Formats: sequence, C-alpha cells, structure tokens
Amino acid sequence: MIELRNIRKSFGSLQVLKGIDLDIERGEVVSIVGPSGAGKTTLLQIMGTLDAADEGSVVIDGTDVTRLSTKQLARFRNQNIGFVFQFHQLLPEFTALENVMIPALIGGISHGEAHRRAEELLSFMGLAERASHKPAELSGGEKQRVAVARALVNKPAVVLADEPSGSLDSANKAELHRLFFDLRDRLGQTFVIVTHDESLAAQTDRTIHLRDGQVIDGEGGLTEPTPPNEPAEPTPDEAAPIEGTPLPDLGPVHRDPLDPSCTPETFLA
Ligand SMILES: Nc1ncnc2c1ncn2[C@@H]1O[C@H](COP(=O)(O)OP(=O)(O)OP(=O)(O)O)[C@@H](O)[C@H]1O
Ligand SMILES: [Mg+2]
Repeated sequence: MIELRNIRKSFGSLQVLKGIDLDIERGEVVSIVGPSGAGKTTLLQIMGTLDAADEGSVVIDGTDVTRLSTKQLARFRNQNIGFVFQFHQLLPEFTALENVMIPALIGGISHGEAHRRAEELLSFMGLAERASHKPAELSGGEKQRVAVARALVNKPAVVLADEPSGSLDSANKAELHRLFFDLRDRLGQTFVIVTHDESLAAQTDRTIHLRDGQVIDGEGGLTEPTPPNEPAEPTPDEAAPIEGTPLPDLGPVHRDPLDPSCTPETFLA
C-alpha cells in the first residue's frame, strides 16, 4: 500500500531523515512515535506528497509519486490521501457539512453526491445534528471528527494523521482513537498516525520508532520496521471490513476533474 525506500531529507545542513525504509499494508493502523524533532512530521509530509524527499522513492497504491508532476500530484493527493492535523484546520467560514464536501467537489464529484457523502459521514461520526454549524460553534472533539470525515470523503487509500488527538481532552481523545479503529474494522481503512500518546500507540498494529531521522528498534539499533510483537502481515481477508453495522454505501465515485462546473468556487457561489 505504501512503500518508502531510502528516504532522505535535509533542511540546509540539517539532515532530518537519514534513509527511511517503510512498508505499510492495506488496512493497517500504524503509529509513528519519537522525540520532538525526530523527523516524524517531515516523514508524514513526504509520505503524503506534501513535501518531496531529496532522495528515495515513495510508492502509494502502486503509483511512484516521485514521478508525478505538480498538477498530477495535487490530483493524486486529493484522490488517494486523507489528512488529519493536530489542529483541525477546518475553514472557519464554512459549515461542518461544507468543510467535508470541499475535497469531494475539488475532486470533481457532483454537488449532490458530495452533499450525500458528507451527510452520511457526519452521521457516522455522530454529528448529524451539527452539520450546519460552523467550526467556531463546535467543540474540539467535534471539530476533529469533522476533520476525519473530511479526510474520508474521497475514499482515500490512506489517512495520514499528525498528532490528531494532540489538542483534545482525554474523553475526546479516547473517542477519536476508537473512531480510527472502528473505521479500520468497518472499511479496511489504512491509517498512519504520528502521536505522542502512548495509549494510542499501544493500540495500533505496529509502532515505528523514529529517532534522529532513523527508524530504530527497542534496543536503539537500526532495523527494518518490524516490531517485536507484530502479528503476521495482514492477509487481504484480515484487512477487509469485518462484520458490524455497515457504513452507509457512499456510492460509486463519479469524477470528472475537467468539469469546470464542479469546483469549490461554484459551490461557494
Ligand atoms: N521547513 C523546515 N525548514 C527547516 N527545518 C525544518 C523544517 N521542517 C522541519 N525542520 C526541522 O527538522 C527537524 C524535524 O522536524 P519535524 O517537524 O519532522 O519533527 P517532529 O518529529 O515532527 O517533532 P514534533 O514531535 O515536535 O512535532 C526539526 O529539527 C525541525 O526544526
Ligand atoms: Mg511533528
């Protein structure tokens, strides 16, 4: 699903990532932990194509993103990667529903379909009643759940989250973490989560320890990213959604990126 090979990145003379190799399977929930400044955010941004590595390759769902043009990259990101940040980064002038719809509209999905998906996702997040509220009228936990809905609206291959519960109190934190595993269990959604939260890291399938720009194991030596008590790699069966209340069918994806009538601008007009 995600293959990183020999990722190196420097900012000026500061070598931040020193040759990272990482494989993430579909349906895995992987945490990345490490001290401040270890390079976690940098790694996540490179994984998410928001930043480019100096060296190495990033392959997501079979696409070598290092070969894409800026325009292709923007499209690829919109279609394949969902982001959740520490601070929700919702657009304050739009309602929760509109915030969730925007990536779908940018992706060329019709207004009606985007609306339907956003409503369904917000209901799933327990936010149906809050859909018409703007971020300033939502609690911190609600805002983060809207941000998760927004990350999911284009059915991405992977959701990348950078300290998603970093700004939440313990109750909201626990609820958000439950949501991640619920989404994985029901949808087979893949998550890569940078966190300082030990209880979250302990719940994930695998924890990548980053220190000084390198992946380390418990002993501090360099290693392939294979943790000690990791179960076998998930088979397609395990990665598939398990039984449970099914998520609403979000329907087939109709995308026409060339359709100029499907832009956020039209939506906002
Ligand atoms: N755009 C940039 N320009 C220069 N230096 C940068 C830039 N981005 C990050 N750095 C430096 O790279 C190093 C790694 O930063 P990064 O944000 O990846 O750390 P982190 O592991 O996410 O830390 P934290 O836990 O504090 O968020 C830090 O020393 C940081 O100062
Ligand atoms: Mg960081």
